[in-house]
Amino acid sequence: MAETDWEARYGIGDMPWEKGEPSPGLVDFWALHPELPRATVLVPGCGTGHDARAWASAGFRATGTDIAPSAIRLAKQKTAKAGLQVEFRVGDFLADEPFRTFDWLFEHTLFCAIAPSRRDDYVRAAMRWLRPGGDFLAVHYLIADTDGPPFGTTRDEVWRRFSPHFDSLQEWVPRSYPNRTALELMLWWRSRPAP
Ligand SMILES: C[S@@+](CC[C@H](N)C(=O)[O-])C[C@H]1O[C@@H](n2cnc3c(N)ncnc32)[C@H](O)[C@@H]1O
Repeated sequence: MAETDWEARYGIGDMPWEKGEPSPGLVDFWALHPELPRATVLVPGCGTGHDARAWASAGFRATGTDIAPSAIRLAKQKTAKAGLQVEFRVGDFLADEPFRTFDWLFEHTLFCAIAPSRRDDYVRAAMRWLRPGGDFLAVHYLIADTDGPPFGTTRDEVWRRFSPHFDSLQEWVPRSYPNRTALELMLWWRSRPAP
């Protein structure tokens, strides 16, 4: 399977995932949880940064990374225009060693964007970038497609991959963009502290 050239897709504006707003499920999560302490968060595969800006608006010290330099350029422009503070960096979530670890990790359409053969790498990366005992909030896209990206997954696969390393705090079907209604599943996990 050929690797997706993400930079080329940004170059020609082939970005069907770009909705011009953050994940509705993420927005609702923070409206429901004003009590949670604000901390640091990593948004890998951040695209043009809508979700990272939503975390910053919720009071977090947010960092967004993306493998495509054009995504990071657009994210920085939009964030400056919005008058928000977010750190953006070009980087490969799967391959890079963490430049720091984070209190929270937010998944939204990166797991479904990478080749399914790299999903073990994704789980290892999630554990590397998150501090022990950190929180992993994920919006998974439950579609059947095998000729992605996006590549489909199932609730069973998500549980099989993440439950050995994370304790489940909550699972629910979120409010979604209109074309993803009832196709998303949110999971809030906490990584197990090192023994
Ligand atoms: C489907 S897009 C989603 C973008 C953003 N999360 C959103 O929902 O608008 C997937 C993003 O992941 C980025 N990406 C793909 N592989 C990556 C990797 N290994 N590390 C970091 N970013 C990656 C792509 O460049 C692209 O911006």
